[in-house]
Amino acid sequence: MDFVEHLKASIDIVKVIGEYVRLKRAGPRWMGLCPFHTEKTGSFSVHATHQFYYCFGCQAKGDAIKFVMEIERLSFYEALKLLAERNGIPLPKRSEYSDPETKQRAGIFEMHELAARMFRNALASGAGADARAYLAKRAVAAGQIEEFGLGFADRSGQFLVRRFEQEGFNAEQMETSGLVLKRQEGPGFFDRFRGRLMFPIQNESGKIIAFAGRALAAGEEPKYLNSPETPIYHKSTVLYNLHRAKEGIRKRDRAVLVEGYMDVIGVYSAGVHEVVASCGTALTNAQVRALKRHSANLVVNFDPDAAGANAAERSIQILLEEDIRIRILELEQGLDPDEYVKQRGAAAYQEKLAAAGSYFHWLADRARARRGATVEGQMAALKELLPSIHRMSDKLERAAVAEDVAHYLGVERGIVLEQFRKAALDRRERTPGAEARLSVPAMEKILLNAILASPAIRPEILPRLQAMGAAQRFVTRGIFQILFLLQESGQNIGFSEIDARLEEPDRQLLLTAVLADEMTEGADFREQAEACLKKLEASEREGRRTEVRARLKEAERAGNFAEALRLAEELNRLDSAGAKRTDSGAPR
Ligand code: CTP
Ligand code: MN
Repeated sequence: MDFVEHLKASIDIVKVIGEYVRLKRAGPRWMGLCPFHTEKTGSFSVHATHQFYYCFGCQAKGDAIKFVMEIERLSFYEALKLLAERNGIPLPKRSEYSDPETKQRAGIFEMHELAARMFRNALASGAGADARAYLAKRAVAAGQIEEFGLGFADRSGQFLVRRFEQEGFNAEQMETSGLVLKRQEGPGFFDRFRGRLMFPIQNESGKIIAFAGRALAAGEEPKYLNSPETPIYHKSTVLYNLHRAKEGIRKRDRAVLVEGYMDVIGVYSAGVHEVVASCGTALTNAQVRALKRHSANLVVNFDPDAAGANAAERSIQILLEEDIRIRILELEQGLDPDEYVKQRGAAAYQEKLAAAGSYFHWLADRARARRGATVEGQMAALKELLPSIHRMSDKLERAAVAEDVAHYLGVERGIVLEQFRKAALDRRERTPGAEARLSVPAMEKILLNAILASPAIRPEILPRLQAMGAAQRFVTRGIFQILFLLQESGQNIGFSEIDARLEEPDRQLLLTAVLADEMTEGADFREQAEACLKKLEASEREGRRTEVRARLKEAERAGNFAEALRLAEELNRLDSAGAKRTDSGAPR
């Protein structure tokens, strides 16, 4: 067997992709939010049996190797290598898959590994005494030094260069690695990082791709010296510590975003393992998407100075566009996260995190502080906030936030709603039908999930639904049509059976419904479905009653008393049927 086939046969695509995307089982496939485009409802599917992924939204598709290439921005050979290493499969010696560019990058990866090792050793050696003293002063424990792979860059400027030359890395690799610089005069190179405390920066799979070097003396500029962009380091897509934090982010279903390297180390050591840093730059969409693959909840805890607050405010806009639920933690007395943990302890910091308030209260406070507490000030503050609120793509959430902000600022509710109505109109014009397209009412989601999950209830539920006619008015009526058909003809009912008989957009609706939050594990499906049917039957009756009542009035007005009498009797019957059902229908 060809090595590629062998590799693909020995790995499980669900496991590979599951490292990067939260997947939920949905029938024969696994579903999640697509990592390749912005979306709120999952249209990304992974098929275990056929070993491929497909996004209904952006049509991205491929096998496990393609996925790793795309998500890690690797060449084919690099992806192969990564998957082989991760699964303990030896690579063939003669690597016919590697091209010159891949070889070049492989060299640069190696240089980073080597540099990190040398930095670590140097920190432990005599030359690292100052750096060790500095870490002790900052109360960084030995365990943290090891965990974060901290090191020291020798002052000589020849430390890395000599070793790289010994190892035979070529001039082009030297130049593009970002680790060494070309001499202005004369031939040769010298180390970029000299006399600094070194923080390795890793990509999501844990490979070292860059470094940051902190000055040891106060006032030494720059305080942090960072690797430049290189073929293996694209700053705007990297979050510091994500490879360590991602498990914690999923487990706690939230991430904590801080500004700096030291903050990450301090907060992580306080037991908050879901912490990442943007490293002093404004957050990018790529970074937010990387976070969102693991959780949609984020606490932003930037430094409590003006720069930190401005960075937080800028980040909020991007986070809202990507539908992240944001809370803001601002620590008192000018403490940054690292200082806070050191001075007040892990428990105090965790409490602060738990109590962090919603971003819009924080924004409202800031706007109010700028605008003053007068009525005009409040209105101005509100106007300032509206654009942020409008970035939220969920209509209901948006309206709830608007009301809350109005209340918080003390602005009259009517004014806010009016502002909102106007903006909502603009919005609709901009994106025709975009919101309506994907939303499935909760009741339909519950019914669909119950029917899919529990074969036992189908013979009771489906005929009753069909007889009622209510399903004809469902958003998902196309799906129910198929369900009725399958049930009547005694065929197997499953996700793929239904999916195969649907066209877009019903197919999308089915995915939406199946991935809904309403689908609770271990729920009593019969009870849930029964409750939905009761509600539907009641509203059918109510609809019928309204209709009969109107016709009764009409008949009386027209003097058609025979008809009126008949209708009055029917109304009576409907009323007593309703009463009877509610009496006996109460389960408890
Ligand atoms: N930063 C940078 N270059 C600088 C200053 C800051 O890249 N010249 C980035 C670093 O990622 C740094 C973050 O911005 O970690 C936050 O800056 P700051 O608060 O100054 O650094 P801390 O990490 O808090 O560092 P320390 O506690 O060591 O002062
Ligand atoms: Mn700081």
